[in-house]
Amino acid sequence: MSKTAKIQIGEETYEYPILEGTRGPKVVDIRSFYKDSGMFTFDPGFTSTASCKSEITFINGEKGELRYRGYKIEDLVKEHNYIDICYLLLHAKLPTKEQSLEFDNELRHRAFVDEGFKNLFNAFPRTAHPMAMLSSAVTALSAFYFDHLNITDDLGFEEMATRIIAKIPTLSAIAYRRTLGIPLIYPDIDRYFTENFLYMMRAYPGGKFHREVGQIAPTTVKEIEVKALDTIFTLHADHEQNASTTTVRTVASTGAHPYAAISAGINALWGRAHGGANESVIAQLEMIGDVKNVDKYIKKAKDPNDPFRLMGFGHRVYKNFDPRAKILKKLQDQLKEELKLDSRLLEIAHKIEEIALRDEYFVKRNLYPNIDFYSGVILSALGIPRNMFTAIFVIGRTVGWISQWMEFKKDPKAKIARPRQLYLGD
Ligand code: CMC
Repeated sequence: MSKTAKIQIGEETYEYPILEGTRGPKVVDIRSFYKDSGMFTFDPGFTSTASCKSEITFINGEKGELRYRGYKIEDLVKEHNYIDICYLLLHAKLPTKEQSLEFDNELRHRAFVDEGFKNLFNAFPRTAHPMAMLSSAVTALSAFYFDHLNITDDLGFEEMATRIIAKIPTLSAIAYRRTLGIPLIYPDIDRYFTENFLYMMRAYPGGKFHREVGQIAPTTVKEIEVKALDTIFTLHADHEQNASTTTVRTVASTGAHPYAAISAGINALWGRAHGGANESVIAQLEMIGDVKNVDKYIKKAKDPNDPFRLMGFGHRVYKNFDPRAKILKKLQDQLKEELKLDSRLLEIAHKIEEIALRDEYFVKRNLYPNIDFYSGVILSALGIPRNMFTAIFVIGRTVGWISQWMEFKKDPKAKIARPRQLYLGD
């Protein structure tokens, strides 16, 4: 196959190099196209545009394949906990046992936030959405760690990354507790990352847990719950150049503070077409209310004149089953009894899935269930309220954003993101 692509416009032919990655489609390097031809290319939504080179995450949407640093997601979920995944994404290699313990320890010690955050959270109304509070708090982190603006060495990058990964669960739990108007719970350095988050969500002041009448041992955080949430964090850890990651890279390209870039990513994630879908899936299942109503809503989703969409279905890249969804579907089945998953919602979800997977409308458009279709029922069983679902996505994804931020910053050829336009005004 030719190593160049030719674009013919009238009598002129322009030739551009074809770049070859290690996996995935080849790329036509058209960076000089405007200079050569005086024309722009037009690709709103970046459906055919590679915006960067990356070595972090690979997706094959046709096969339904996802890899972090070359490792298949299915293997990583089976063999590693979430903080090993963080280490892998940040360092491009899996940690040794010692490195894993060291990283775990560092995250535990960095989980605390400045006491000034109490004032910040108290300024929000209790009705505020946790995502609004979380993104504001992450922007506020840039005020507390302003020195991170000028990082140049590996140690500085590492400190900045571990700091934000460690603090996001704490800030998320405080945001949740603010919605209830209850006192915050400090991180417990004796607890692993994921267990600590559930602890900060659930515990009473003093680290006590709810005790049923007559119950000797209080309900604490169960190992099976930690494992389930750890898997959810792992599956959300990175997803190459999606909308929020592209936002993080765009903000990074202006030279803004890294935590300001992460905060922008959090806001981009919040939308229903992206990470906000997990909250909408459960809202939609509740709205459907009964299996007997599923047909009616499938019909609405297929109607081109109705804006209704099946939340948790479809994906820009996956034109096959989302591999993350496959893992969560299996996890749902495993946890059904043990965590007492909501059988009514599961029944509705199964019915939707069953119909959609053989309905011509969905089959023709390659609309399969995505990760958000399955995460909500599990999160609900962990006692996590619906308005915290997207914050859970944030906790998992922060490492991906920060890894992509670092990759961008370490690229000497990185340029400010500045798309062009097709002007149609006066
Ligand atoms: N329900 C019904 N129809 C749909 C759906 C859906 N969920 N998703 C796409 N379609 C139809 C759409 O109407 C269009 O039909 P037509 O060709 O007749 O106009 C066709 O499928 C292509 O859709 P599109 O909007 O052009 O596709 P996109 O790649 O721009 O959008 C998406 C991808 C994820 C935004 C979209 O599928 C969607 O809105 N899904 C529901 C929200 C959701 O679950 N989002 C979470 C994504 S996974 C988590 C993450 O990584 O963010």
